[in-house]
Amino acid sequence: KKVVLAYSGGLDTSIILKWLQTEYGCEVITFTADLGQGEELEPARQKAELLGIKPENIHIVDVREEFVRDFVFPMFRANAVYEGLYLLGTSIARPLISKHLVEIAHRHGADAVAHGATGKGNDQVRFELSAYALDPSIKVIAPWREWDLTSRTRLIEFAEEHQIPIARDKRGEAPFSVDANLLHTSSEGKALENPAEEAPDYVYQRTVSPEDAPDQPEYIEIGFERGDAVSINGEALSPATILTALNEYGRRHGIGRLDFVENRFVGMKSRGIYETPGGTILLEAHRGIEQITLDSGAGHLKDSIMPRYAELIYNGFWFSPEREMLQALIDKSQEHVTGTVRLKLYKGSVHTVGRWSDHSLYSEKHVTFEDDAGAYDQKDAAGFIRLNALRLKLVANRNARFK
Ligand code: ARG
Ligand code: SIN
Repeated sequence: KKVVLAYSGGLDTSIILKWLQTEYGCEVITFTADLGQGEELEPARQKAELLGIKPENIHIVDVREEFVRDFVFPMFRANAVYEGLYLLGTSIARPLISKHLVEIAHRHGADAVAHGATGKGNDQVRFELSAYALDPSIKVIAPWREWDLTSRTRLIEFAEEHQIPIARDKRGEAPFSVDANLLHTSSEGKALENPAEEAPDYVYQRTVSPEDAPDQPEYIEIGFERGDAVSINGEALSPATILTALNEYGRRHGIGRLDFVENRFVGMKSRGIYETPGGTILLEAHRGIEQITLDSGAGHLKDSIMPRYAELIYNGFWFSPEREMLQALIDKSQEHVTGTVRLKLYKGSVHTVGRWSDHSLYSEKHVTFEDDAGAYDQKDAAGFIRLNALRLKLVANRNARFK
């Protein structure tokens, strides 16, 4: 029996690794993704070896370009935001991890994959729906839903029994649960569980506070092609390089912090602190370029399906027919979303201050308050309003009769 485990190298997934070996008698294969979480991954290799994993069963893969190109950018074409605020930084990474777990399982002839998400959250749903969509016969092992290691004390005991190294700061209660990648860092639980209490400042890990950001604004220009960012200040960059650079601008100016209570798919509410520095800049820039390049009918239609699309990603349905249908609609809308946006970054805020494009639909000739040289006949508006008002007048007359 072989199982592929999504392995971070941290204490919890190390315990899961050992538990799979001892309780299931499985041969464990590990997958550790570099998603841009900003952690060294070689220690994960050493730890896996220490726990008895054969070198050929350890997979450490840099997936940063794939993550941004095939997951983050398609999602940003939609301006996807969950419940008005959350930029879906964890949600969008899960299907990618499952895709790799399933691929590695196939290469090794393994019939199961395993993950370290609890039975209370969204992540279990995302991992598992993605895995089943890609391989309907795959088995999933979710140790948190099965084992009796239900307290921190029991977990530490199990680790000690099996000689799993424990960092000193991991012996007590973990301060909160963190998930990080190139798009965001999320923090949930423990010190953050009372939504009435402001989060302590040490929770924020990748942005300065807006109060401490520079007193001088900074301007940057982002170039877009067919809805995807392709350059910063005229320099062409790869998707992951662009997001990395935007994260640094965002970090410096305290952009993209969020304190938010959301509805989990499993039914409960949860409070999280999010930092999405580069993503927040990218969202504003993308909306900025759409302002001049999208037709109003196309723009309003894609806006109206956005909440549904965001909910599909949040709920774990990235690999579903309806997400792919909506993606096709969104991608079609982006054919002319090409041009440049100029942004002002200042103390936690990002604003579009200029946008231009060869594909622009903006017509100064039509909109000008000055003499338009016959481009637009104002008399046309009279009939336009008369016909639009017709049914409103009929309703008003009817209502007057029944007062
Ligand atoms: N609540 C967020 C979401 O559902 C973040 C989840 C964070 N996951 C974690 N394992 N800490 O997308
Ligand atoms: C977890 O339960 O593993 C983290 C929170 C979530 O998945 O929503």
